[in-house]
Amino acid sequence: MGFIENKVAAEMAQWQGFQAAEINSEKIAEALTRPPKPDMGDLAFATFRFAKDAGVKPNELAAKLAHGAETGGLIDAVTAAGPYLNLTLNRTAIASNVLTEIETQSAGAEARDWRYGDGTSGRGNTLVIDLSSPNIAKPLAVHHLRSTMIGYSIKQLRESQGWQVVGINHLGDWGTGFGKLIAGVKQYFPEIAERAKTEESPLGDMTVQELNETYARFNREAKDNEAIAEAGKDEFAILERYIEALLVKPDEPNELDVAAKESGIVNFRIWQHAREISLAEFERMYAHLGLSFKLWPVVDTEHATVLTKEPASFYREHCIYVGESYYVTAEDLCRRLINDALENRVAEEDEGALVIFTHGKDKPPLILVKSDGATSYHARDMAAALYRKRHWKLDEMTYVVGGEQKLHFDQLFKALKALDHDWADHCSHTDFGLMLFQQSDGKWAKTSTRKGTAIMLEHLLDEAVQAVRDIIREKNPELAGSPDMEQVAHAVGVGAVVFNDLKNGRRNNVKFDWDAVLDFEGESGPYMLYQFVRMGSVTEKYREKYGEPVFEQGDADRLGLDEEWKIIQQLAAFPDAVAKASADFEPSIVARHLVELAGLTSSWWTATKDTRIVGDDEGLSLSRVRLVNAIRKVLGRGLSLLGMSLVERM
Ligand code: ARG
Repeated sequence: MGFIENKVAAEMAQWQGFQAAEINSEKIAEALTRPPKPDMGDLAFATFRFAKDAGVKPNELAAKLAHGAETGGLIDAVTAAGPYLNLTLNRTAIASNVLTEIETQSAGAEARDWRYGDGTSGRGNTLVIDLSSPNIAKPLAVHHLRSTMIGYSIKQLRESQGWQVVGINHLGDWGTGFGKLIAGVKQYFPEIAERAKTEESPLGDMTVQELNETYARFNREAKDNEAIAEAGKDEFAILERYIEALLVKPDEPNELDVAAKESGIVNFRIWQHAREISLAEFERMYAHLGLSFKLWPVVDTEHATVLTKEPASFYREHCIYVGESYYVTAEDLCRRLINDALENRVAEEDEGALVIFTHGKDKPPLILVKSDGATSYHARDMAAALYRKRHWKLDEMTYVVGGEQKLHFDQLFKALKALDHDWADHCSHTDFGLMLFQQSDGKWAKTSTRKGTAIMLEHLLDEAVQAVRDIIREKNPELAGSPDMEQVAHAVGVGAVVFNDLKNGRRNNVKFDWDAVLDFEGESGPYMLYQFVRMGSVTEKYREKYGEPVFEQGDADRLGLDEEWKIIQQLAAFPDAVAKASADFEPSIVARHLVELAGLTSSWWTATKDTRIVGDDEGLSLSRVRLVNAIRKVLGRGLSLLGMSLVERM
C-alpha cells in the first residue's frame, strides 16, 4: 500500500470504532481503495472482510465505524455509504506530509543519496542475478544489451529494497565451439599456431569480428567434410584435457605426454587470447553503460581488500565475471556434478550421451555430457547454480536471458530439483522480448549475425551519443562549447537507448526506431532527462529572484490546483512502484510511473501559465518550487534506478 494509504490508515486506527473492532492500521491500509467516482471522496474503506470476521452486516459495521470517526487531521470528512466508508482527505495536510517525506529522505545534492522510494523488505537477503553473459569470440548481440540493461536496473531496484545483489556475468567462454575456432585459426593462420608455441598472446591484433569470421568459415568447411569436423572436436579435447590436468589438479602427477602438453599450451594460449580480446570489447560497452565487472576470483589487491572488508559495498559497485570455463577449471565443479547425477541415478546414458529426462521420456532430455565426452552448456549451468548457492548462500536467483532460452531454464530448474536441490524453487528466468530493427523493405525484424544484418552494438551506443551531440550543437551552441558537453551528450545518448529499452514490459519486443529513441518530446529518455533539467532550472530561477529557497517553508495550502493534487498522489505512489518493480523484476513499472509523472507535470505547467511557477507572488512561488523540487528528486531517483546518468543541463 502507498504512502498516503499508510498515513491515513495509521490515523484511522486511533478512532474508537476501529479500536473497539480491533482493526489495526495495516489491515486498514489493505482495505483502502480509490472510489469509482471522485465526488465520492478520495479514498474508500471496504468493510466486507471485517464484518464477516465479526459476524455483523457490512452496512452496520460501516455505520459504527463512521460514528467514532475523528476528523481534522489528514481526514476532513467521513460518510458511511452502504458497506463503505468514504473519506475526503485534507489535501493540504497530505501534500505537506508527502513533501516533507521526500525532503527528509532525499536531502543532499547527489542523486545517489536520494533514498525516497527505498524499502527494507529485502534486508538480510541475497539475490544472485545472472546478467549480460555474452559469448567470447562473437560480436555482442542485441539481446546481450537488453540483458545488461534490464539486469542492471533490477540489481539497483532490489538493492533499493535492502537486498544484497550479486551480479554475475556468465561469460560464454567454454564449449566445443572453441575447438572449431582453434582449428580454424591453425588452418587459416599457420603463423599464429607457430607463434603460440612461444608467445603468450599469439593472435596479434585480431578483432572479435575476425575471430568470429574464422569460426564461421571453419563451420562452413566442416559442414560436408567429416575430417575437418573431427579436427574441431580434437582441438577442444586437447584443450579440455590440458586445462583439467594443469589447472584442476596442478599438484597431481598428470598423464600428459610432451606432445599433449605442447599442443595443449598452444590451444590454451589461443583460447586465452581470444578471451582477452573479447573482454576488451565487452568492457567498452559496459563503460558506456556505467557498469563495472571484475574477474572472479578477485585477485587484484585493491578490490580483493574491498571484497573481504566490505563485501556489501563491493557487490554494489561491481558485478563479477564468472565464465563458464570456471566450472570446468576451478574445483572440478562440473565433473563432480556429473558424478553426483550418475550416482543418484538422475542421469542416464542415451545414444552415447549422458542425459537427464526432465520432462518425461518423450520430450528431449537435458544433455549433461555430449557423446564426444565434452561438458555441455547445461552441465556448466548446473555446476554454476550449485556453486552460487554454496558460495553466496543465495535466497533467490534470477537469470536475465532472452525468452528463446525458456526451455533451457525450465530443464535446468527441474534437473536441480531432481537432485534434491529444492531451493531451485527460488530460481527464475527473467525473460525478455526481442529488439526489432526496421529492414530496407520497411518490415520490423530481429537482426541476425548469420544474415550479416547484425547491428554492431558498440556502434549503436556511439551513434546515439553522436546524434545527441549534433542535436545539442544545433539547439544549444552555448552548451556545445562548454566542458559539460561530453558528459551531457553521453548521458543523454546512452540514456535514450536505455529508456527506450525499459519503458515497456520486458516481455514485449522493442522496436528500435531512431526517431522515437531520440525524440526530445515523446516518451523518451531525452524527454525524461529534459524534464529533470527543467525542474532544476526553475529552482534556479527562484534562487535568482528570491534567494535560496527554504523548501520546508513553502506552504502546502497554496497548492490547491487539481493538477497539483494529482502530482502529489503520483509522488506518494512512487515507493509502491519501486517495490513492485523490484518484486516483479519489471523496471518498466518505474519507467511508466515516471512517464505519468512527467505528463502530470507538463499539464501543471500549462495550468499555471498565467501565474507562472516562479512569478510575482513570492509565497506562491515558494510553494510551487517546493513541489518542483520534490518532482525533481523523484524523477532523478527513478531514472537512476533504471540505470541512467543524470545531467544538470541539456
Ligand atoms: N551466453 C549465453 C548466450 O549468449 C547466455 C548465458 C545466460 N546465462 C546462463 N547462465 N545460461 O546466449
